[in-house]
Formats: sequence, C-alpha cells, structure tokens
Amino acid sequence: MHFMTTLTNIFVVFIVALMSLVAAAPLAVRDVYVPPVTYPHDGTVWTIGSVHNVTWDNSNPPQQITNPNGVIMLRKGDRTTNIVLASDFKVVIGHATVKVPKVQPGDDYSLVLFGDSGNFSPQFTIKE
Ligand SMILES: *[C@@H]1O[C@H](CO)[C@@H](O)[C@H](O)[C@H]1NC(C)=O
Repeated sequence: MHFMTTLTNIFVVFIVALMSLVAAAPLAVRDVYVPPVTYPHDGTVWTIGSVHNVTWDNSNPPQQITNPNGVIMLRKGDRTTNIVLASDFKVVIGHATVKVPKVQPGDDYSLVLFGDSGNFSPQFTIKE
C-alpha cells in the first residue's frame, strides 16, 4: 500500500514536470527579445545630473524582432516610475545614453528596458 502511494507520488511529480515543460515551450519559440542589462549593475552608483551609457547584451538577437524600438524607464523598489530616461533608440544597438534625473536618493533603483518585453536591470544606487 505504502509502495503504491510512493509510486503514485512519483507519477504525479513526473506529470507536473512534463506539464511545466509544455507550458514553457511556447516562450522559447516566440521571438521575444529580452537582452540582459549589463550596466548599471549591482554596486553601480550614479550621481544626479550625470550622464551614463546604459548597456545590454545584444549578442543574440532573434531573426525577427517584434518591436525594434526601445524605451528605458526608471524603477524604484518594485514599482516602475513614470520617468522615461531614453526612448527612440534601436534595441539591437545594445546601449543608450541617459542623464540621471533629480530623484530622491536611494539604493533601490533599477532600469526597465522595454523592447519586445520589459527587462529589469539589477538594483543600483542614485545619490545627490
Ligand atoms: C556606450 O557603450 C557602447 C558599448 O560598449 C559603446 O559602443 C559606445 O560607444 C558607448 N557610448 C558612449 C557615448 O560612451
């Protein structure tokens, strides 16, 4: 009896694993381009008013990009602000220049790179 229960459990785990594989598959097929942001990164400190070159890994673009135009927005904590740092650039170029806006200093800022989808940078610091 106990043996059967264990077997049933293993079977259920197997089915669940199989289902999650099937659920994940369409994502890989779609041409959603989510290039990881490489700068700023964990430990980066930006001063208000300074200018920086945001970079992301553009080494693996898909054949077709649904939305080639990028937008970079500022995020604080787990909320995206309405501050647009850069727009009207091509996501495939892999970098964009931004000027650090006058915001409340903090160590929980991040960027969202919008192209095909939103991609968050690691958190970094903005100081006065
Ligand atoms: C930004 O970084 C990219 C990639 O390293 C580089 O090609 C580009 O010249 C830089 N732009 C500026 C304004 O520094």
